[in-house]
Amino acid sequence: MITSAIVPVAGSGTRLLPATKSQPKEMLPVGKKPVVQYVVEELARAGIEQILFVTGKAKHSIENHFDYDHELLRQLSDGEKKELLAELEFERMQVSFFYTRQRRQRGLGDAVLCGQRFAGQEPFVIALGDSILGLHADSSCVAQMIAAFEAEQACGIIAVEEVAPDMTQHYGVVRPDGTGPLFAIEDLVEKPAPGQAPSNLAIAGRYLFTPIIFDAIRHTKPDKRGEVQLTDAIRILRGRGYRILGLKLPPGERRYDIGNFESYFATFLEFALADPVYGPEVKKRLLELLRTEARLPADG
Ligand code: G1P
Repeated sequence: MITSAIVPVAGSGTRLLPATKSQPKEMLPVGKKPVVQYVVEELARAGIEQILFVTGKAKHSIENHFDYDHELLRQLSDGEKKELLAELEFERMQVSFFYTRQRRQRGLGDAVLCGQRFAGQEPFVIALGDSILGLHADSSCVAQMIAAFEAEQACGIIAVEEVAPDMTQHYGVVRPDGTGPLFAIEDLVEKPAPGQAPSNLAIAGRYLFTPIIFDAIRHTKPDKRGEVQLTDAIRILRGRGYRILGLKLPPGERRYDIGNFESYFATFLEFALADPVYGPEVKKRLLELLRTEARLPADG
């Protein structure tokens, strides 16, 4: 049984300035919820019971978000807005939260290493706090990763997503052995130069590893920006002959990246449109705007 997850949220989010000047990118709203709430709800549904956030400077609002707010609960229960209590139900999730700080910004691999004591001797999930899997986080990917890990002899599984060839330079990219949804990874490279990617299968922000990964991270040399990349640590494991699997996101599921404005805006729109209460009104307004922009007739 895999019940622990490390959620790195230490990145400074400079690509989202000024929105992220004094608030974490993981707390940006996508529709009604902050990004990190989707991530935690996804993990809880996959059977995760304890989560370690690896935080950094100015990330306190994440801790506050997952605390019980007794005063607010009392205020809503006593007042005329009892229906809003449903919006705080996530506070009762059966998940324990732990927090540690990455004291220097030294990359994703180094952030994961901060979770070594938390993970202990058990396999654990890594879920990036700025990535939502599936519309409204309704993804079965982590549950599938856990099932595959338990059935196969591997020391790690990585979720991957097919991306357009001109996007591979923004991600870690794997070289698969075979074409099925679950495959052995031959090799992988972090942010390959344009035209150099070994495939179009990009690492999608969810990983599962045995604690052997920590030793590999310790042996990973920082890149030219001084960052210890998780991808490079996994590459060391491959070099030592460890079996690492890749799992394609289930059909119909996507990864929503809240690391840049283009993808954040598009994700917000998609989630708002899919909101059961507000979606129809947003759609109406959006169609009006698009018609005006395209100078289409009102019924066009
Ligand atoms: C990180 C990983 C990269 C992965 C990406 C999306 O990059 O290093 O391998 O593809 O997340 O999950 P970042 O977005 O932090 O630059």
